[in-house]
Amino acid sequence: MSLKVVMANDQGAVELAKKMKEHLEKRGYEVNYLGIDHEESIDYPDQAEKCCREYLKGGYEFGIVLCGTGIGISMAANKIKGIRCALVQDKYSSEKAKQHNNANILSFGGRVEYKEDPMEILDAFIDAKFEGGRHQRRIDKIMALEG
Ligand code: RB5
Repeated sequence: MSLKVVMANDQGAVELAKKMKEHLEKRGYEVNYLGIDHEESIDYPDQAEKCCREYLKGGYEFGIVLCGTGIGISMAANKIKGIRCALVQDKYSSEKAKQHNNANILSFGGRVEYKEDPMEILDAFIDAKFEGGRHQRRIDKIMALEG
């Protein structure tokens, strides 16, 4: 059974979402793509909700949300109970998002000029492992803030 990823984007990241989907498929992932492939304006909080609610149904290794900057859609994702969305900008932070924060959703911006290839930033997350221990204690504290 292949590993699954769920993705959604707004009009600000049509190309990047397409590239990431193809990249994930090349890596053997099954991608449930809930994004849009046109540049007609929609609201990114709706896309964040769609992706995160689907992720929370279970069966996904992680999810990806994308908008123009990655900022708005990550803010929206982090309002949903059970979601730890990381807005990652480079390979270092992406690796740490798994090792330390065990993020379950990643966020990218289609209009951002990344200094590193976004596919490599994504790979850094996929290839890293959650380290547990003190990081689990801190995550438990994050989740307790949900009230
Ligand atoms: C849409 O124009 C844009 O605001 C959105 O894609 C995103 O960048 C928001 O944070």
